[in-house]
Amino acid sequence: MFINFWYPVATSEDINNDKPYRVQILGLKFVAFRDEDGIAHVLSDVCIHRGGALGKGWVKNNTVVCPYHGWRFAGNGRCTTIPTISKDDKPPARAKVDSYPVQEKYGIVFAFLGDLPEEERPPLREIEEYEQEGWRANQLVVFEVNAFYERSIENGLDPSHNEFVHPAQGSPVMDSEVLTKPLDIEDLPWGSQFLVNFYNPAYGSKTFETNEQMSHHVTAGSGHIGPNAMITWIKLSKDNTFHQYFFEAPIDENHTRIFFLSMRTFMLEPEMDERLTKISLVIAKEDIDILEDLTPVCTPTSSTKEVLVASDQAVIRYREYLREWEERGWRIDMETLRTTSNNIGYAIPSPNRRSSGNWVLDPVPTLPVGV
Ligand code: FES
Ligand SMILES: [Fe+2]
Repeated sequence: MFINFWYPVATSEDINNDKPYRVQILGLKFVAFRDEDGIAHVLSDVCIHRGGALGKGWVKNNTVVCPYHGWRFAGNGRCTTIPTISKDDKPPARAKVDSYPVQEKYGIVFAFLGDLPEEERPPLREIEEYEQEGWRANQLVVFEVNAFYERSIENGLDPSHNEFVHPAQGSPVMDSEVLTKPLDIEDLPWGSQFLVNFYNPAYGSKTFETNEQMSHHVTAGSGHIGPNAMITWIKLSKDNTFHQYFFEAPIDENHTRIFFLSMRTFMLEPEMDERLTKISLVIAKEDIDILEDLTPVCTPTSSTKEVLVASDQAVIRYREYLREWEERGWRIDMETLRTTSNNIGYAIPSPNRRSSGNWVLDPVPTLPVGV
């Protein structure tokens, strides 16, 4: 799990200016709330007075109020009110919690969980066709799986599981000649992607010699941006296309919350939404049944503990990116986090830590670089 990427925190509807929303991501707790202008804020959940859970408090006058002794924290993380100090005194400078950059898009509140300045941040995966003419989005679906998020992203980057895990999809199946060659992977600034042609036996030849065959071939593929955002493209025919977006929030190593948005260029009637969502969830369930029983739970740290083949190429490229980000010092040291968090309060460092010091909580431990 990595700091310095955008993570989905909640749906827009989950966050209001009455009750704070408490959520766990990357093994740590966060609190989200809205101010009276409707702006969503995401803060570290740990009150720096004596460790109360801010997410169990309430929202008042644009602040989140700690339920333990009533200290209040604004959207920028600063403590604005301490009930037990004199009216003439200001809260001490150390009375601040980490506050994270937020973007609210596609009905999702995303937080940048890291301390990079704005110009250095990896981007949020955009959905360019969102609300564009000729496209329709299904309703946003959020579901939790008992699996490690990297296993889930890898599953999306693996074209060879489809005909085994999703037999009910029937044709098209992937051309076995294509499957035995390394996938043609295209690198992106913060990820990679691939597209492949699938053979649709219903329409005869797999070499697409005629226009009729060509018009029925299926192009599909997937890609990732960062460790936790995945997109699948399915071009069923010239006019029928799905773009499916998966924004994944690792809760811990064993649990992942997935925000799923599917865009389509056909069956645009709103009443088709429910039917298509149901089909997507049936397919997702087929994946989840596999993912929840993978051994080990996390991806093996050594390539000697698996046997990879050409069709795993996109998975291999994804792991290379993860290693690059680990080399930047962004991979959380889960072992240390697990074994010390009974005694130490941690937070993901926020951008404010670059300009001010003296923070109460320790920065989350990350794996050393260059070992
Ligand atoms: S622990 Fe939050 S106000 Fe005391
Ligand atoms: Fe699948």
